[in-house]
Amino acid sequence: MRIVRSIAELREARAALGALAFVPTMGNLHAGHVSLVALARTRAPRVAVSIFVNRLQFAPSEDFERYPRTFEDDCARLRAAGVDLLFAPDETVLYPQPQTYIVQPPAIAEELEGAFRPRFFHGVATVVLKLFNCVQPQVAAFGMKDYQQLMIVRNMTAQFDLPIEILAGETVREPDGLAMSSRNNYLSAAERAEAPRLHAQLAMVRDAIRGGVRDVEALARGAAQALHGAGWTPDYVSVRRRADLAVASDADGPGRLVVLGAAKLGATRLIDNLEI
Ligand code: PAF
Repeated sequence: MRIVRSIAELREARAALGALAFVPTMGNLHAGHVSLVALARTRAPRVAVSIFVNRLQFAPSEDFERYPRTFEDDCARLRAAGVDLLFAPDETVLYPQPQTYIVQPPAIAEELEGAFRPRFFHGVATVVLKLFNCVQPQVAAFGMKDYQQLMIVRNMTAQFDLPIEILAGETVREPDGLAMSSRNNYLSAAERAEAPRLHAQLAMVRDAIRGGVRDVEALARGAAQALHGAGWTPDYVSVRRRADLAVASDADGPGRLVVLGAAKLGATRLIDNLEI
């Protein structure tokens, strides 16, 4: 695996690779990332990964400084996964000047995650566009765990006519249902034992809708209350249409819906979702 740090080195290395699939990450890689690499590999002979903790998508109160940085372990995982090229720029490479040109995502970016993480998707869309310009992949893979991010990246790619196919990777879970996430590392032992409740509550909403219950708002409210009762601070539990993440109505049935949730457990904010 070749590791490049500058855009010039990246362009030189990329030119020799031909058709390329790309997995952008912020590092601290786990089995979820490795599954995205495997998915990417099904679509192109070569795979590139980026590791860049993107300050633009963190609010000042968030965990940018303490976000886990585990570069050597990440490289070992990527080598084992057969990755061809790793782009690992630092901030002076990707943001040599303050980034004043920012992608303005549509109104849906102010809902769900965006309602609790102001300008999060401005930061995500801007860095993804920059990474796409630098890496110039034919295919890029994003995890379904970040469902809203996946939708926003997919729509941005389409609206800017970028010749990149966006692939969606299934969420990889621990045996107890907890979605794999770099932020799981922040959990204490007691919190880790409690953490699968988020998935369990979303699964209850999913199963109730599959079973014919149509009052989706009451179901979502019930799930948020159950989390609250177990000591969580829920930000949202919401049933949305998969296509555009618009609020679901009672007339929407299974096959077109997704339930999304985010909640704090102690100081750690976890998100998850399940298609219905
Ligand atoms: O999902 C992530 O890890 C990040 O949001 C991404 C897509 C790498 C952009 O920084």
